Amino acid sequence: MYSFKNDYSEGAHPRILQALVDTNFEQEAGYGKDRFTLKAGELLKEKMGRKDVDVHLLVGGTQTNLTVISAFLRPHEAAIAAKSGHIFTHETGAIEATGHKILSIETDDGKLTPVLIKKVLDEHTDEHMVKPKLVYISNSTEIGSIYVYKELKDLSEFCRKNSLLLFMDGARLGSALCSEESDLKLSDLPELVDAFYIGGTKNGALFGEALVICRELLKEDFRYHIKQKGALLAKGRLLGIQFVELFRDNLFFDLALHANKMAGILREQLTKGNFQFLTHSASNQLFPILPDKLIEELQKKYDFLIWEKMDGNDSAIRLVTSWATKEDEVLAFIEDIKKCLS
Ligand SMILES: Cc1ncc(COP(=O)(O)O)c(C=O)c1O
Repeated sequence: MYSFKNDYSEGAHPRILQALVDTNFEQEAGYGKDRFTLKAGELLKEKMGRKDVDVHLLVGGTQTNLTVISAFLRPHEAAIAAKSGHIFTHETGAIEATGHKILSIETDDGKLTPVLIKKVLDEHTDEHMVKPKLVYISNSTEIGSIYVYKELKDLSEFCRKNSLLLFMDGARLGSALCSEESDLKLSDLPELVDAFYIGGTKNGALFGEALVICRELLKEDFRYHIKQKGALLAKGRLLGIQFVELFRDNLFFDLALHANKMAGILREQLTKGNFQFLTHSASNQLFPILPDKLIEELQKKYDFLIWEKMDGNDSAIRLVTSWATKEDEVLAFIEDIKKCLS
């Protein structure tokens, strides 16, 4: 069995494991005050060309989302998200459990726009309803689409004009920024969003997300929020070491480029085979629509998610490539499709 199920099926890039081994017996301060975590923060600030942002390392995506959203919002305030957004569909009500409603919006491609958000604002007019205050987006989105510079700039301007906070979930930010269709750079983000995170878990780290808080008034006491949510690791060094390794050179981007390259081969070959896709994806998640019979055959050798049943005898499946996906396996998958069809 070879898995195209997700981008966290493998452990971690060997350089990260090696760095953990090499530093194993060094004694360090706890709770993110160690020299590796401080160094990771410096490296990230350098890559962004911004000294005035705060960087915090957390363990996972859900934990980061709920810590951020509950810290940024007052009790009556709500988050706005795409209906397909991770916080709305796949986080077990974690945001709602902190007392904040998520106002969800149906989208075609997983992306929010000013027009879509305006509709929600128009529907929430007074204190008998929650007050929309934070816009949650992810890049890439849950269905593999990405935001280009102009789209993010438009969202950013709209949010500022309407006193909304803009928060970007970057669990797959590497793949989004390294997409051939992206004109966004890491250094653009502090200008455009109030906070965002850079996902390590799905891009070669054992675990870890680097949260960047860009807006001054959101920075205060954030470590208190992290600790109160049980998210301040005593051995925070384990996060620091990993992010130093990812960002001391180009490793983070190289790994994302590899995942995208593997997805690119799948996309190209499936397109050549005249298969349709559920949605246009420019990142490492693809959603081709295949006949159910073919899916059954492929499931004998490959692991992947069946995403959505279509009309007739077809279904959309989700194929995810990772920093470690083997090109030979990608080519074998394509060959197996051809064999099944011939
Ligand atoms: C966009 C996005 N955000 C957040 C998460 C949650 O991450 P975790 O499983 O580490 O809580 C995921 C996980 O798949 C994700 O895809």
